Amino acid sequence: MQRVTDQLDIPVPDDFHLHLRDGELLRAVVAESARWFGRAIVMPNLASPVVTVAQAFAYRERIVRALPANNSFVPLMTLYLTDQMTVAEVKRAGASDVVFGIKLYPAHATTNSAHGVTDVAALDPVLDAMADMGLPLLIHGEKLGPDIDVFDREKVFIKDVLIPLVRRHPQLRVVLEHITTEEGVQFVLDGPETVGGTLTAHHLLLDRNDMFRGGLRPHHYCLPVLKRMEHKRALRRAIRSGHPRLFLGTDSAPHPISAKEASHCCAGLYTAPLALALYAQVFDEEGALKQFGAFASHRGQAFYGLPVNLGRIRLSRQSRPVEVPERVLVAPGVEILPFYPEDGLHWRAERI
Ligand code: NCD
Ligand code: ZN
Repeated sequence: MQRVTDQLDIPVPDDFHLHLRDGELLRAVVAESARWFGRAIVMPNLASPVVTVAQAFAYRERIVRALPANNSFVPLMTLYLTDQMTVAEVKRAGASDVVFGIKLYPAHATTNSAHGVTDVAALDPVLDAMADMGLPLLIHGEKLGPDIDVFDREKVFIKDVLIPLVRRHPQLRVVLEHITTEEGVQFVLDGPETVGGTLTAHHLLLDRNDMFRGGLRPHHYCLPVLKRMEHKRALRRAIRSGHPRLFLGTDSAPHPISAKEASHCCAGLYTAPLALALYAQVFDEEGALKQFGAFASHRGQAFYGLPVNLGRIRLSRQSRPVEVPERVLVAPGVEILPFYPEDGLHWRAERI
């Protein structure tokens, strides 16, 4: 009889897509990511976006200052691509040892994306400079338009924007972040070695039905929005495939409860506290636990040219569901709700 794995040790992973915010929110959330991850690619979509290397340096300083004592977490900074980005700034970023990628948000696609790109092709000289400097383009892959259904944004972006972009820039490394569709998975599976992709725990666990179960659920609203269950199944097949360029990016995106439980609720799930256990549960359900170490601790590192972290994490299956995490107090009256799956969570992570 085959023995069921109930424990797994992996090198400390990295989070290749994370929102740490700023100010009191940063101070409230950074410790959880620093507890579980060695490094993280930190998103630049602050209220005033991180568009220059000088701003990335300053934001990095604020993150490091907010870390608990004796914590060696390394924030890997990104710049926010705007229509005004210059080749000179890209060269500064590439020469710096703090900037690890430049983030493409199509204008108005998501939280704080008003400064996003309106015409990607107009930025070809900037993208050429990124390829020369070896700086990857990190992509929020959604195309918006009056005739584009919100559930089709990723598929349309891949066809209309991404495939042509990869053809025009064969040397540029690109990461299709937080993949939510079968088309997104296929784009990475069929892509050349320059193409990678990240998967979130919540898109592996949830589908759009979860947004409406028993009433409208603002805490399940994220962008790209949850898709049909067939797409969730395609993402789950992808983790079984063991593809070398599909890796972990939580897209943990905290918002105060007051901004979630509101008309025009903000998009984003705060998954950082239980992220590793959430992923482990999905990999377990898919019979893919053997792939989890590579997914979390090796593949993204290889794509970004980073060494594997020292230190290890132990994941273990629990016979009873682990406890629901407490709300995070940001300031008096301001709290964040960590994501916890409705059917319970039967995995626990610990640093060993
Ligand atoms: C992110 C945020 O809140 O910054 N929200 C989300 O739903 N993922 C932005 C993003 O990554 O799209
Ligand atoms: Zn994000």
